[in-house]
Amino acid sequence: MKIKAIISTSLAAILLASAGVVFAQFQKAEDAIKYRQSVFTVMANSFGKIGAVVKGEAPYNKDELAKNAAIVAMMSSLPWQAFGTGTEGGKAQSDIWSDQAKFKSAQDKMQLAVANLNTAAQSGDLESIKKAFGAAGQTCKGCHDDFRKK
Ligand code: HEC
Repeated sequence: MKIKAIISTSLAAILLASAGVVFAQFQKAEDAIKYRQSVFTVMANSFGKIGAVVKGEAPYNKDELAKNAAIVAMMSSLPWQAFGTGTEGGKAQSDIWSDQAKFKSAQDKMQLAVANLNTAAQSGDLESIKKAFGAAGQTCKGCHDDFRKK
């Protein structure tokens, strides 16, 4: 009798703990969707400012560009935690959850590319910034083509 009670109590604790893992950070799927979209919005804002310089539409200011590249690099690690189980929705394609290895590989490519962009930006060499920006942009596009709804 007593043992049975202990077992069912521990089972309940395990169930609670695993539910806690799924919703460690976000109470509702909408919260996770809002979080990742917000991170992408901030990241794209700084990325776009670099793009304007690269395309010659805005003047090159080393400190400003370096600051934006650092923001992109920092933000690039944040969206992924908000794609947990049960957070389908927004413009995210369901393949994210059915092909997690491919999605993860697209994240890694992007994080590496924006780290390179950050290094180039801190160095202040506009030619290498242009190259690194182009490469980083390809990694955004690659993932959007595969995993974001039009
Ligand atoms: C590994 C995949 C992946 C990479 C890499 C990626 N994105 Fe996205 N992005 C997504 C997904 C998925 C969404 C849709 C999220 C949603 O609606 O829930 C999205 C949405 C966005 C949005 C729209 C946000 C909104 O408010 O709806 C912007 C802007 C964006 N990404 C910019 C970028 C930029 C800029 C880069 C590269 C520096 C980038 N993304 C790299 C997967 C990616």
